Amino acid sequence: MSLRFFLINTALLSVIAVVSGNYNVCSFMLCDVFALYFLSCHFFILQFYAPWCAYCHTFEPTWHEVGAELKSMGSPVNVGKIDTTVHTSIASEFNIRGYPTIKLFKGELSFDYKGPRTKDAIIEFTNRVSGPVLRPLSSVQLFQHVMSHHDLIFVYIGRESFLKKEYYKAATEYIVHTYFFTASEEVLPKAVTLQDVPAVAVFKDRTYYLYNEFLDGDLSSWINRERFPSYFQIDSFSLYQMGELSKLVALAVVDEKNPSEESVRYKTLMETLSTEYRDHYKSDYQFGFMDGNEYINGLIMGEVEMPFIIVLNMTIDGYCLPESKIETIEDLLRFLNSVLDGSAKLLGGNGFLQHAKRSLYKAKSTVVSMFQAAPFFSCFVFGLPVGIAVLVIWATCTAVPADDEKPVEGATASPVLDAHGKKAIELQPDSTEKTSEAKKED
Ligand SMILES: *[C@@H]1O[C@H](CO)[C@@H](O)[C@H](O)[C@H]1NC(C)=O
Repeated sequence: MSLRFFLINTALLSVIAVVSGNYNVCSFMLCDVFALYFLSCHFFILQFYAPWCAYCHTFEPTWHEVGAELKSMGSPVNVGKIDTTVHTSIASEFNIRGYPTIKLFKGELSFDYKGPRTKDAIIEFTNRVSGPVLRPLSSVQLFQHVMSHHDLIFVYIGRESFLKKEYYKAATEYIVHTYFFTASEEVLPKAVTLQDVPAVAVFKDRTYYLYNEFLDGDLSSWINRERFPSYFQIDSFSLYQMGELSKLVALAVVDEKNPSEESVRYKTLMETLSTEYRDHYKSDYQFGFMDGNEYINGLIMGEVEMPFIIVLNMTIDGYCLPESKIETIEDLLRFLNSVLDGSAKLLGGNGFLQHAKRSLYKAKSTVVSMFQAAPFFSCFVFGLPVGIAVLVIWATCTAVPADDEKPVEGATASPVLDAHGKKAIELQPDSTEKTSEAKKED
């Protein structure tokens, strides 16, 4: 492990471009400033990119801002980037398949960033992951302060124990998602009553839940199940993460810009169910609502009119839709139970046919959105190869044998490449596209 890491380090040393505060990006040869940085510490957040990746270009300014802000904050984390098309061995070492991929390196560990690609979210992630795995809450005031700033925190209460070791291990894995604290009994809010110490609690939904070794299984999978609020606004990034959750996702998909009476009712029903039936459904369902149906449409390759209620199995990209209208909480309960007992019709999935269909759907929507965004440019991009082909055929037919090579090479090779390069830039400007791509690689 350490030898391997040493080799990687040495390789990285010569290839990482440092994004520094004054917006200099050193080219990916040995960069002296960087070498110094690198040797003095092992904290890095790296972007693995490819020059042809359109989204990487759009993302570039954000990445620079991250670099500048971390530097001005005095963060020990260095920001860099690696061209994976040049350094293919590093890309395969880290199994990089989507672009841009963001990873944080902390000593021998690496952590994947899977959240939204915004400056604030990346900086929050960097500070959380690069800091201590367990953060002590040493006073009542500090406890209150932390609670008021986070929707969800895990807290270990007690002294050293076997449970604490387990907690530390789980925290190392899940710190990419949330914060882990330790506290003594004295600093807990008055409302918290413990049967046993040591204990692990999750504070969320304006209350707290305690881990029970006998009912909840091992600590790590309990943390995985509890790391989201019971009901919240789910975006495409958190939905994507729910593939690892082994829970079904019950969603009210609504249009927040034009909230109808029905969408308010769907949201209320979901929220009520998530609290009143928590014990019943906590290991089967994650509840939430989503604003806009774009992502779901892509997932189910169809269009459902908002608002609607849907249950998703993110592990297999499967879904169920209610067969009749949902008016009451009983209707919703009946629907959720029918999904659990298998009587509801499961649609979608990730079989061969679904895969093929998904690729077609994606290609179609890409082309459509491209023509919508830039009709003239698209005509040019799609027209150019055809034009060139016609030219080549014409040139081949009319050329005298001695001139054969020239027109073919000169006319085809480079323009076609250019057209593709440009085409890629226009193609995927939105993050939804990216997520579904990122999803495919896993
Ligand atoms: C999702 O579907 C797969 C295959 O049918 C099944 O094995 C798995 O249990 C489902 N996931 C959940 C959370 O029900």
